[in-house]
Amino acid sequence: MDGNGRWAKSRGLPRTAGHKKGADSLRTVLNACRDAGVQYLTIYAFSSENWKRPSDEISDLMQLLNHYLEKELDTLHENNVRLRFIGDLGQLDKDIRASIGEAMEKTARNTAFNLTVALSYGSRQEIVRAVRRIVEKGVAAQNITEETLAEALDTADLPEPDLLIRTGGEQRLSNFLLWQAAYTEFYFTPVLWPDFNTKHFTEALQDYAKRERRYGTTGE
Ligand code: FPP
Repeated sequence: MDGNGRWAKSRGLPRTAGHKKGADSLRTVLNACRDAGVQYLTIYAFSSENWKRPSDEISDLMQLLNHYLEKELDTLHENNVRLRFIGDLGQLDKDIRASIGEAMEKTARNTAFNLTVALSYGSRQEIVRAVRRIVEKGVAAQNITEETLAEALDTADLPEPDLLIRTGGEQRLSNFLLWQAAYTEFYFTPVLWPDFNTKHFTEALQDYAKRERRYGTTGE
């Protein structure tokens, strides 16, 4: 969801205004997913590296997230949406950890849609945590397979992503789902996240529909 800061700056507004407008885009995209029959959406809301931002922006972002959770949780639950959070959640404030725990628990049995929020998330750190879990369990080296690692990641019960959309014009992964995106199709758009709407989302899906996914085979 890149481009909130630039969106705000170009209007002479504080960066937080961009994040607020970004939360509206998220609502739009959630509805667009539902209409298109997409069942899993994972959003990169706050990266491990984002902790290096000014403390004011971090606390504004956390407040926005808390506010969004408080305001939207009932609606998400009524719509049978399961909410998950991935990342190094231990780094978050106690209050936000409590809200997150409550949201995950409340929606744990919902089945219509899966919204996963990557928060304080970095894929390299996630892989290191996974390796530590495996070692702590005492798994013998020769028994470690791709499945062992995949099951130790934060995304253990999620399917691998089919499509990854990055807004805001940069063409890189920035430490997002490195392992999980091995065969994901990438879609980069210059549109800034606060401007991203249903039309842009549909264009991304149409582009994806034209791709031929061969997973390393000749495709014959
Ligand atoms: C990247 O834009 C965006 C973020 C670091 C925050 C994303 C958060 C939201 C959209 C808030 C809504 C989320 C939830 C879960 C309620 P940037 O600030 O790096 O933009 P820039 O590259 O233009 O500076």
